[in-house]
Amino acid sequence: MTKTSSDKTAASLCGVILAAGAGSRLGYPNEIGGKPMVPVAGDPLVAHNLRRLAAAGVDEVALVVNPVNRPVIEAFVGSGADFGVQVTYVMQEVPLGIAHALSLCADFAAGRHVLLLLVDNLFSADIGAAVAQYREQGGDKAEIFLLPVPNPQDYGVAVLQDNRLQALVEKPKPPVSNLAVIGLYLYPPTAFDYIPSLVPSARGELEITDLNSLFLQQGLLNYQLLDGWWLDVGTPERLAEAEQMLKNSRK
Ligand code: DAU
Repeated sequence: MTKTSSDKTAASLCGVILAAGAGSRLGYPNEIGGKPMVPVAGDPLVAHNLRRLAAAGVDEVALVVNPVNRPVIEAFVGSGADFGVQVTYVMQEVPLGIAHALSLCADFAAGRHVLLLLVDNLFSADIGAAVAQYREQGGDKAEIFLLPVPNPQDYGVAVLQDNRLQALVEKPKPPVSNLAVIGLYLYPPTAFDYIPSLVPSARGELEITDLNSLFLQQGLLNYQLLDGWWLDVGTPERLAEAEQMLKNSRK
């Protein structure tokens, strides 16, 4: 029997949270859990992100950790049940880049689409509708999320022309765009086929911006502008800002 669009079932989607960074400037060395265990408004960053995935309808999550922070994170997160998800631990021995960390989750994803989150990113937008829409459409497109920032040189940025994505640049020196690509990405299963063709960047990492650029070159990258606030909690100043934002949003 031929399937019509109304018969189409939503793509199955799993979550990946990257928490295997080299350490942090926030006073949390990997021996005590590193950045994922830095508390913000009463909860470690990893807890905020696990709940975020559960709220977006994701029930299975790969948590990428490193050999030093794994015991602390696993003791806190356990099976993930307290956060509404089922967690599988994936080990990244050396932080060889965000795309490298994602590649280690190929077996876990097993043909599913992936919602990828970076553990140090916090944002206020409700992504439930965007995730549901992505699942409905299925297919082989990836999706990124953008927000204007005053310090684009610190992030990957997107260059738009007439609302169309033209290019992605990682930490641009000349100010080519103020639209940061935040640490929230949606990928089809084919992402795992593209990663082996990436080459390490000047900082020795397989860059997520290079993976996204491959999708863009093939016309397979969508974007959405996010509302609200977003913070990459990488410095004590931004940690204090995130603390304030979360407290305000709970008032
Ligand atoms: O925060 C958003 C930005 O994140 C994007 O705009 C950039 O395009 C993207 O490259 C990334 O930039 P950063 O330089 O800030 O990424 P960072 O090295 O801080 O890694 C982000 C998180 O990913 C970090 O908390 C730990 C995790 N990570 C990172 C690497 C390099 C891993 O789990 N494994 C890794 O190998």
